[in-house]
Amino acid sequence: MSFSRWYNRNLNRIWTFVEDRTGMKKWALRPQPEFTFKPSYWTGAFVATAFLYQVVSGALLLLYYEPSVNPTLTACGQAVGTLSVSPAAWCSTFYIINSVPMGSLLLSSHLYGAYAMIFLMLVHFYRGYYMGAYKKPREFSWMVGTLLMLATLGMGFTGYLLPYTALSYGATDVGIVLAVRTPYLGNLIAPFLLGNGTPQSLLSRMFTAHVLLIPVALGALLYAHIALFESHGIAPPASSDPSQRRRFTEKEDKKHVPFMPHIFFYMTKWALLYIGILIGIAALWPWNLPTYYGNTAAVQPVIIPDWYFLWLFKMLDFVNGTTPIPAPDAMAIGVVILLFVLFLPFLDRSPRTHPRDRPLFIFIGTSLLEFFMLLSVWGEMEPSIQIQLFTYTNGLVPIIWRLGPIFVLNALAIGLFHRRYMRSYRQRLERRTPSYPGVYGPTAVTSENPSAGRGRPAAAAPSMGSVGAPGVGYGK
Ligand code: HEM
Repeated sequence: MSFSRWYNRNLNRIWTFVEDRTGMKKWALRPQPEFTFKPSYWTGAFVATAFLYQVVSGALLLLYYEPSVNPTLTACGQAVGTLSVSPAAWCSTFYIINSVPMGSLLLSSHLYGAYAMIFLMLVHFYRGYYMGAYKKPREFSWMVGTLLMLATLGMGFTGYLLPYTALSYGATDVGIVLAVRTPYLGNLIAPFLLGNGTPQSLLSRMFTAHVLLIPVALGALLYAHIALFESHGIAPPASSDPSQRRRFTEKEDKKHVPFMPHIFFYMTKWALLYIGILIGIAALWPWNLPTYYGNTAAVQPVIIPDWYFLWLFKMLDFVNGTTPIPAPDAMAIGVVILLFVLFLPFLDRSPRTHPRDRPLFIFIGTSLLEFFMLLSVWGEMEPSIQIQLFTYTNGLVPIIWRLGPIFVLNALAIGLFHRRYMRSYRQRLERRTPSYPGVYGPTAVTSENPSAGRGRPAAAAPSMGSVGAPGVGYGK
């Protein structure tokens, strides 16, 4: 018997023993088909791992952090012999970095862990977008996911102020101004965000939101997200064949790999790798604490947010003559993008999930990605430098020539790929079944006739149990 078979059999025995003794037969997550054992199918689980690391490291940081703007009476790294006037929030962060054993590692890994969680979430989002994972029956999973994205960005925003540096205070201030000028919503959230207008009330609100309100909301949303995932099962590979979008049944689940212990250990391996890399990066490049807010002796920094909000800040640098883009307009663009993402499952209604079948939505998604990347790099390289809407800084090149060609090239590239893919897909179908009319032929799939045009004769259609077999499955 091979080692892996022996290993799996014994793990199964141990898990069965635990389930029998606890009387809880189904408390592990559902089994998954074998073909999902690739990292691309577990992008959401990576985000969940990153979230768990943030919860644990954040709880440890809470033991030392003090959410107060009152001046501290300890020297706190300032000139020895004089009383420090640095705020307690900044001072306690200084203390974590310099005096708590491994505190610098803990704080740096919490900060980089936040970046990693946001980055992994974007990967998870775009993977779902390109693979059409939001389509029936997973519309609610997608919508709850969009709320999770908001909550995760909210965690980043509220956490930014906590070290109470001049930089973080300035960026939070701009963020708050933007938030309260959001059309319609701004008036609703303003009282919560502004409090009585003092720095202490701002810090207290950001702190409460960061350690209590948003994590609880995020936890509840994550529970709903995973419960929905449990009920639908994993989305099959993207396909041109709508009939392949059905759910896995209980019976089919039995043929699949159980969550406990196989998937659990598979994920543990990735989780340990993630934590190892994160701690390695934090050890090699520890975060340096900038000066505190209110230090009049220090040079005032250029106000710049964390990388995931750079695009929004850069939009405020666009000016028309001498008038900057009004904040509500910039926020309105953000709200339109958010509404587009939230209701995407109801906008892209075709039952086909393969990117080759969805050129318009692939174009929109790719253009949005380019828009975010372009404005973020621009924001990082030229923070707070104004851009004339119709003329660039040298007054010669219309701005449209800067942004426009990227989207035109994008449309051309996607159009060409679409044509090429459709041609090769049709050829493949014809080679497989010469007499078969094909998905786009006379018996094309319609909502009235969903089983038509399966791309292969009925007899050759694979059962869900054969999904792992190479060369068959899901009408790829
Ligand atoms: C805090 C952020 C998030 C966490 C922790 C999370 C977690 C998860 C997990 C654990 C799964 C199960 C499958 C997998 O591991 O990939 C999943 C699936 C899914 N998520 Fe997320 N997610 C998050 C954000 C999002 C966002 C922003 C979206 C899209 C707007 C989204 C849409 C989906 C969809 C459609 C599925 C089903 C995919 C499939 O069946 O292959 N999620 N998510």
